[in-house]
Amino acid sequence: MKKEILEILKSKDEYFSGEQISEMLGCSRNAVWKLINKLKEEGYEFHSVTNKGYKLLHEPDLVTQEQVMDGLKTTTLGKRIVFEKEVDSTNECAKRGGAKGDQEGCVYLCEMQSLGKGRRGSSWTSEAGAGIYMSILLRPGLMPADVTRITLIAGLAVCYAINEITPLRTKIKWPNDVVANGKKLCGILTEMVAEIDAVDYVVVGIGINVNNERLDEKIQDSATSIFLQTGTQFRRKTLIQAVLYHFERLYERLLSTNDLTSMMDDYKKMCITYKAQVQAQYNNKQIIGCCDDILPNGELVVISDEGIRYILNAGEVSVRGLYGYT
Ligand code: BTN
Repeated sequence: MKKEILEILKSKDEYFSGEQISEMLGCSRNAVWKLINKLKEEGYEFHSVTNKGYKLLHEPDLVTQEQVMDGLKTTTLGKRIVFEKEVDSTNECAKRGGAKGDQEGCVYLCEMQSLGKGRRGSSWTSEAGAGIYMSILLRPGLMPADVTRITLIAGLAVCYAINEITPLRTKIKWPNDVVANGKKLCGILTEMVAEIDAVDYVVVGIGINVNNERLDEKIQDSATSIFLQTGTQFRRKTLIQAVLYHFERLYERLLSTNDLTSMMDDYKKMCITYKAQVQAQYNNKQIIGCCDDILPNGELVVISDEGIRYILNAGEVSVRGLYGYT
């Protein structure tokens, strides 16, 4: 019902009386008044004038189900959104959802995570209301070994979305960190539950620093936010909608071909690791060399300084000039 009231108030830049709204919605004036108060609690601002009614003045930057679904241009992703103000980790919410049978494309969002998780056991700082903390549940017909391809398209989708909505020209650090001017803006944590030859479900967890005005001292040198780069606040819902839109497009392409060939040109153009000097761990050995190629399955080809060709499919790869690797 809150969604319907907002639709009415947004349909014209005019006042709507409680009586008009109640007639349009087929409910009592008291019910309208209660819903308006709920919306005020969520941060919506109205101008109300006796005998004229209510006019919407300001919509808060929320990532609730109503907000994100309003204007979402996808067919599957986000058709169901589970929003909770505070959770442990949206990846954990998605895994609980996956275990109880939630469908492909269900999206889990929150304002704040108390136990935000990063890759390799690290934590993900999740300031309330400033960033995007989102996990997407997928049930792809892929072999478990091929699931890493999904993480690459997630990075590409975030890049497309940020570059479309903000003036930033973000890049990808292989496989899927999104960076702006050499600092990390977005991290992606993909988890899966699978048997040896079949995937049950995959959770793609996306964390984007959007309107953070400052970041933890310990990550200040390597991380940034869209606000810190542009000086402008952006509506998180718009970014979420764009990420879901691009992700869906790329995901459909991935599933129909089972590889990344059709998007590899774009991926390479946006990838700062491609053709860069890199440093990586390979079978407990450190290799230093140049990234020569990225294969259609997402693997990274590195030619070491000794001339040996290595193929990496996961792991931390440092890029010269980034995050303190000089
Ligand atoms: C990384 O270390 O780069 C990955 C960070 C992933 C953070 C996101 S925030 C939403 C989702 N929930 C989590 O607990 N982690 C991911």
